[in-house]
Amino acid sequence: MKVIAFNGSPRKKANTAALLNKALEGASSAGASVEMVHLIDLKYKGCVSCFECKRINGKSYGSCVLKDDLTAVLKKIREAGAIILGTPIYLGRETGLMANFIERLVFPYLVYDAQRTSLFGKSINCGFIYTLGAPEEMAVQAGYRVRFDTNDMLLSRILGSCESMAAYDMYQFDDYSKYVSSAFSVEHKAKVRSVQFPIDCEKAFEMGKRLAADKGKA
Ligand SMILES: Cc1cc2nc3c(=O)[nH]c(=O)nc-3n(C[C@H](O)[C@H](O)[C@H](O)COP(=O)(O)O)c2cc1C
Repeated sequence: MKVIAFNGSPRKKANTAALLNKALEGASSAGASVEMVHLIDLKYKGCVSCFECKRINGKSYGSCVLKDDLTAVLKKIREAGAIILGTPIYLGRETGLMANFIERLVFPYLVYDAQRTSLFGKSINCGFIYTLGAPEEMAVQAGYRVRFDTNDMLLSRILGSCESMAAYDMYQFDDYSKYVSSAFSVEHKAKVRSVQFPIDCEKAFEMGKRLAADKGKA
């Protein structure tokens, strides 16, 4: 099966990309062909609320009428067996890059009927990987998990089953001494990076492996 990862961080070599690469390694180990898409490389908008995807007898019913760099990507997702979305948390939510991507991916398939039927027409495995600067306790207190659950529910309902993981307390800068960052203990951050991050990478690897395991999928 084909597994595609989407990096919602503007940084192509940072925490989110590292975890997505691990997930793709896991998928590869299960025999999948894999691809990484960095959303920052694409030019696209979020949903413009034209509702052409919902127009009765419309030419674009069930698909997005916008033509930009996402058009081919959205088509490619239809051929995939699994997708993995990775995003940093920015100000309590996924990045703008990821939010715009999700709107374009999900909304055209969502029918405005009582059951909120999906027009996707098949089921693919979905995974979500979040990276956060905050430690887990702070993130839980701030209610970030509600956001994760909402995304899980959305993808499960429209595309197929969805699982997610979060990696907390990420290292944000290469050199903390160059930035105003007295809120953080550099020693603590370095410890998380050397002890916890490898565990997060392993979790991402296993997620990729699981998502690629359903041989019935494309
Ligand atoms: C604009 C911006 C907003 C951020 N807001 C949050 C936040 O609300 N909560 C949090 O835990 N981390 C926040 N962070 C930290 C990032 O989520 C964290 O460093 C993440 O690992 C970055 O991903 P990357 O290394 O793949 O770019 C923010 C970072 C930036 C640049």
